Amino acid sequence: MLPIQTTAPGKIILFGEHAVVYGYPAIAAPVTQVRATARIEPGDGSGARLVLPDLGRMQSLLEAAADDALALAIHLVKEAAGLSELPDFSLTVTSSIPIASGLGSGAAVTAAAVRALALFLNRPDLATNEQVSALTYEVERIHHGTPSGIDNTVVSYEQPIFFVRQQPHNRIEPFPVGRPLYFLIGDTGVASPTKLAVGDVRRQWEAAPDRFNHLFAGCGRLTEAAREAIEQGDLARLGELMQANHALLQEMTVSSPELDRLVAAASAAGALGAKLSGGGRGGNMIALVRDAAASSVRQALIQAGAKQVLATTLPQT
Ligand code: MEV
Repeated sequence: MLPIQTTAPGKIILFGEHAVVYGYPAIAAPVTQVRATARIEPGDGSGARLVLPDLGRMQSLLEAAADDALALAIHLVKEAAGLSELPDFSLTVTSSIPIASGLGSGAAVTAAAVRALALFLNRPDLATNEQVSALTYEVERIHHGTPSGIDNTVVSYEQPIFFVRQQPHNRIEPFPVGRPLYFLIGDTGVASPTKLAVGDVRRQWEAAPDRFNHLFAGCGRLTEAAREAIEQGDLARLGELMQANHALLQEMTVSSPELDRLVAAASAAGALGAKLSGGGRGGNMIALVRDAAASSVRQALIQAGAKQVLATTLPQT
């Protein structure tokens, strides 16, 4: 049997982070330049093995900690496939997505592994976008408290998604992009686990529900308007909406001096709009720029302290 290789991209949240946890809409897009890759091949008779070269780890599945994300993912796929035992295999997972930076590295690693294992077990029905996303969500839930489900969705579907967390099924809508969108992604270099920022917003919401519901509703309205602007290719409007979303995130206290510095620098250098992206407090910000090179904005981000600047394009659809 030939090895099976699958990948999942990084992601950015364009609009509505945090508010999305409370049922308001958000928009996310894949970042295809950075990826998690899972490769699975038949084993050598020593059971299921995990190989994680980035972490210098190589171990039997039996040795993995019970809450290890990959071990959990494997367990969930095994359960979904109705198997009491797994065949021998070696699963190698690598990723070029920066970790703890709001780019969805955890979700992408899990999604790639889930898809690879489902295909290896000859269960294409468990390797659909919907199934990969659902199984990835289960792992995210155990690791991240109360995730909205947007991260696992966008890395599994690998296209821009308008997302609303709701029962019994989330609203997951791919939508057209009227003109290509160019983004620079500036990394503050400050590691910030999403779980902490989400937990902190929850505490603030519990202490001041009216104020926070109002902020979340404001983000929801910006997201609706942003979808329209993206569909119509109205870049100037989209930029303004990004600035407005960043201001609401500042009020939620999830920005940081480093993020604010990068957002201000991008705007001053001619970006159409900029905002933090993801959980905040550190991690990455995004800037909407006029062309793929956008060298003045890139330069300004580096001068303002960005540790890394990635570029991504959302093609017209
Ligand atoms: C993380 O990418 C986005 C947050 O809204 C958390 C979530 O939706 O689960 C901060």
